[in-house]
Amino acid sequence: MSETTPAVGAARTARLVGDLGEARPAYRALADALRVAVADGRIALGSRLPSERELTGALGVSRTTVSRAYDVLRESGYLVSRRGSGSLVTLPDGVRHRGTTGLFPADPREDVIDLTCAATRAPAGVVEAYERAVGRLPCYLSGAGYLAFGVPELRETIAARYTARGLPTTADDIIITSGAVAGINVVTSSVVGHGDRVVVENPGYPNTLEVLRRAGARLTALPMDPDGWDVHGAVATVRSAGARAAVLVPDFQNPTGALMPDEDRARLAAALHRAGTTVVVDETTVEVDLDGGPMPLPFAAHAPSAVTVGSASKSHWGGLRTGWLRAPRGGVSRLVESRAASDLGAPVLEQLVLLELMRSAPGITDERRLDLRASRAALLGALAEHLPDLTAVPARGGLSLWCELPADLPSTRLAVAAEDAGLLVAAGPRFAVDGGLERRLRLPHVLPGEAMAEAVRRLAVAAAAVRADRGRARPRPSRPRGRPLVA
Ligand SMILES: Cc1ncc(COP(=O)(O)O)c(C=O)c1O
Repeated sequence: MSETTPAVGAARTARLVGDLGEARPAYRALADALRVAVADGRIALGSRLPSERELTGALGVSRTTVSRAYDVLRESGYLVSRRGSGSLVTLPDGVRHRGTTGLFPADPREDVIDLTCAATRAPAGVVEAYERAVGRLPCYLSGAGYLAFGVPELRETIAARYTARGLPTTADDIIITSGAVAGINVVTSSVVGHGDRVVVENPGYPNTLEVLRRAGARLTALPMDPDGWDVHGAVATVRSAGARAAVLVPDFQNPTGALMPDEDRARLAAALHRAGTTVVVDETTVEVDLDGGPMPLPFAAHAPSAVTVGSASKSHWGGLRTGWLRAPRGGVSRLVESRAASDLGAPVLEQLVLLELMRSAPGITDERRLDLRASRAALLGALAEHLPDLTAVPARGGLSLWCELPADLPSTRLAVAAEDAGLLVAAGPRFAVDGGLERRLRLPHVLPGEAMAEAVRRLAVAAAAVRADRGRARPRPSRPRGRPLVA
């Protein structure tokens, strides 16, 4: 057995499973409870489950129940048992996306609808943009192609976009990265040390939370209300946290879609400045304004030393894998130095493609906006029809609905059941800083209307399955027993 394989002890596993109550068959209930604990990250992938004998003792059930539950997990791809290594937690092929780390789409499968990621297909005109970009490529071929700061014309175009949004910027303030997450990694490795405190929104974007956790940051949550930031509370948190950095997504926040008003930006920026906290603003979703209206100034207009992270993934196409960092006053040189340890720059051709796309539309096109609004309307319509007790309030922008679930539909259980119904979704706890959020589910509206409706029909099938399971597991009123499988 490997010295480094993390183990989940029998007592802890029993606590995670909870009381199986009168659920029948008991082995199935135990297997389901373990699947849920893996899905919401309470049992880490790769960790070793207790032996059948140990778990039998800790749960006070029969050995057959545990051994049949482990059989079910092995057959469904959640467990591999190797002689000498015990039973290790894994995920079935095709649902590896659901793990316990950041979000990424599963390998495409025709019969599965994947709503794990809030990202759309490419807009019209991408092929033509590639063709024009290839035409420009010869100018770059005489050089080595390592453009540590990025293609100069793209840096200028991005700087001009900031200036047009009310934040004067020059090309010297910009470096091009391989997307926003890559940019967040660069800033994190340059600013955040092991053990440093970092303020983040709760719920927040899972991949950013994961970058910070892996850097050894201690996370302090800024709670989000249903309609946005509680700025009074946020200012108090910032004051008391003494954090090294804060990562904020003020423009159509992922997953809530909230947009921070100008006066709140000013207050929060002032508090962060007084606390000496480095501000990192992730603007990946800023261009996904679906309903329109005046936009607040970029957060960095209130926080002049902030580092801003940008991306083409939502404004144009994720497949470009292109983003950028804006850091004023020579800050970009420090970031380029820090990045050199892991990455020497983004591909030239994709930068030229983005340049072409931004020249025709700096943000999402009107056509894309209409498509996204139609998908959102289809999603809302299907939810009202098939899951009327789920609450979904559309935000002005962003790519998802941050839905509130009824109390009898815990998000992780619903996500696990949805998988069986051919739908992949990211459960609420995936967006949580310190656990919780079982009453929330993120539903991206990124597919055509008919696919959104079909996704909801599958979600409704999953909801019915969860409720049927609970009905079976519910203790008789005369003999109340223990807590539910998922709190
Ligand atoms: C807030 C936020 N940051 C970063 C990303 C990832 O961006 P990229 O694809 O550019 O790495 C996303 C994607 O959903 C996001 O919503």
